[in-house]
Amino acid sequence: MSRNLRIDAARLQDRLARMARIGALPGGGVCRLALTDQDREARLLLVAWMEELGLEVVVDAIGNITGTRAGTEPGPPVMLGSHIDTVATGGIYDGTLGVLAGLEVVATLDEAGIRTRHPIAVAAFTGEEGARFAPDMLGALVHQGALGLEEARAIVGIDGTTVGAELDRIGQAGPAPVGTERVRAFLELHIEQGPRLEAEGTVIGAVTGVQGISWAEYTIEGTSNHAGTTPMAMRHDPGLVAAALAVLVRRLAGEIEGQVGTVGRLALEPGLVNVIPARAVMTVDLRNPDEARLQAAEARLGDELARLAAAEGVTVTRRTLARFPPKLFDDALVGRVEAEARALGHSVTRMASGAGHDAQAFAPNAPTAMIFVPSRGGISHNTTEYTAPEHVEAGANVLLHTALALAMPVAGEGGA
Ligand code: GLV
Ligand code: MN
Ligand code: MN
Repeated sequence: MSRNLRIDAARLQDRLARMARIGALPGGGVCRLALTDQDREARLLLVAWMEELGLEVVVDAIGNITGTRAGTEPGPPVMLGSHIDTVATGGIYDGTLGVLAGLEVVATLDEAGIRTRHPIAVAAFTGEEGARFAPDMLGALVHQGALGLEEARAIVGIDGTTVGAELDRIGQAGPAPVGTERVRAFLELHIEQGPRLEAEGTVIGAVTGVQGISWAEYTIEGTSNHAGTTPMAMRHDPGLVAAALAVLVRRLAGEIEGQVGTVGRLALEPGLVNVIPARAVMTVDLRNPDEARLQAAEARLGDELARLAAAEGVTVTRRTLARFPPKLFDDALVGRVEAEARALGHSVTRMASGAGHDAQAFAPNAPTAMIFVPSRGGISHNTTEYTAPEHVEAGANVLLHTALALAMPVAGEGGA
């Protein structure tokens, strides 16, 4: 009976551990920035595992990897997807869990001899993190036609390389077309990356949607001069305005409901002790579950930054790195996740996601939902990110049963 079906938790942990060796950092965690040699090695391992499972593997023009298990009927697959790239100081679960749990779903169905009416596809999307090449969710956006292939290939990363050149260099620009692929439904298992599930003692989050995201890079230019001789009244210091902007971001987050804000990158040039900087380059990450409030935060930041810049006599240019309105997932599918979690005996709560996810690129085009499992201490984008094995197992079993319900087990072949 498929109701009693369970994933093999030890096999999933083993795959997580093997993937964690690629790009492993000395003190724990991983660095697998998108389209680096480490990303390539992880991709090759993933493809090898997909082939072992007999999946039909396709790499598309933006490097998304999809392995499909045929259904008894043709048609769009139920897709289980996430990413295997990481931030530079990443943990071993962010993204990777969702992809490897997808493989585990396939392996479990194979062992039980269960066929499904609809195909099941496991996917790893290129450059979800946006840490090297912005925007985040890059591969999933191209997959769903929300970002053009050539536009994506032209994106310049933090190290001056382009997506296209790096895709070609690591041999991951595949032959499959992008932008027109449709899925029957999209499911993503992911760690919560925040503190709520742990604090509430809840095992499963049925994710209702993702908050809006606004990423910008600011370049502030002033007059570089001698630190000892330049009177304070004569200065045009980009460093001062950069510092004020960081303070402003924190203040806005305190004043606007639901708002969070982060300055994650800040560089002063030439960056010397006795030189007033010529230039500051910094990023601002603003997020809010409410689009109008997010727009208010952007507008206030723009106005106040203009005043700060005028007062100091510096110029500011702004470049949008990513901009996504809040996305809601499919209510019926979120309900299905909840029901499957309950049927498996797990506590479950509906919750919004603070982080961006590949799933949000699918939400406009297909029924989409996500499954969250707890993150210890709410820590993520950090090498110490950790999710307990029993929570990994619980999440993968909810993924299994939700996927099975969507792909429909076929009667008379050991499953239904
Ligand atoms: C992706 O990890 C994000 O920044 O939310
Ligand atoms: Mn992720
Ligand atoms: Mn991440």
